[in-house]
Amino acid sequence: MLEIYAVELKNEIDKHLFEQVLNYIPENKKTRIKRFLKFEDSVRSLIAEVIIRKIIIAKLKIKNSDILFEAGEYGKPYLKDFPDFHYNISHSGQWVLCAISNMPVGIDVEIVKEMDLRIAERFFSEAETKDLLMKKENERLEYFFDLWTLKESYIKADGRGLHIPLNSFSFKIENEKITFNTQNELKQCFFKRYKIDNHYKLSVCSLASKFPDKISIIKGERLLSEFLQIFQSALS
Ligand SMILES: CC(C)(COP(=O)(O)OP(=O)(O)OC[C@H]1O[C@@H](n2cnc3c(N)ncnc32)[C@H](O)[C@@H]1OP(=O)(O)O)[C@@H](O)C(=O)NCCC(=O)NCCS
Repeated sequence: MLEIYAVELKNEIDKHLFEQVLNYIPENKKTRIKRFLKFEDSVRSLIAEVIIRKIIIAKLKIKNSDILFEAGEYGKPYLKDFPDFHYNISHSGQWVLCAISNMPVGIDVEIVKEMDLRIAERFFSEAETKDLLMKKENERLEYFFDLWTLKESYIKADGRGLHIPLNSFSFKIENEKITFNTQNELKQCFFKRYKIDNHYKLSVCSLASKFPDKISIIKGERLLSEFLQIFQSALS
């Protein structure tokens, strides 16, 4: 059963709390998190690590120290030893999103920012670019990011990321209905868009057809504090 969790990062994260939580993260991840030049990038990365660990500890009843992540051939992370546990993470601006399921899943959140929409030709199929240009000018940017997040969710559910040609599949959104077309191997998948924030777009691709109506939202600082408590308990 698909579940979606969102972590909101609108308030600044306390540096001391950040450092404390970091102590419970394996050395290789810790180095990666600390390597970012901007603190906000490190925070997003730590939050992503913490949200999935917290979910795994709660759902699979395993210890933090027993959690072992690996990455597939094209970089999609998965939980070793639990082949029926699927998850995917996305972060952008003030949000970190995490989807878990018993079937492969892909999630993408993007901040809607001004763009030269001519780049659509590089990323979208011909049909998608045509549909985009047919939109009223004031609707184009939103439509661009709807398509973008849908496409990302698909290549992330598949796991091959940008190794899948972006013009090998197409979306059309009409009256909230998403139509998906592809000759690719992965055809049997389902899509849903969610509204979490007026400035962001969020899409999910799932190999299971049932989607939750709601997303669980938690604030970043609260997530870190709660996690610290779990880490420090006997379970960690
Ligand atoms: C890496 C990629 C899978 C997602 O990148 P992204 O949208 O920039 O980043 P997101 O925040 O949504 O997702 C990143 C997370 O996806 C996961 N991920 C990495 N490789 C993945 C893969 N092959 N499949 C699924 N998930 C993957 C990781 O958890 C990663 O988190 P990390 O960076 O903290 O390790 C890939 O699609 C990419 O490089 N995209 C670049 C943007 C682009 O050109 N998009 C065209 C869309 S039309």
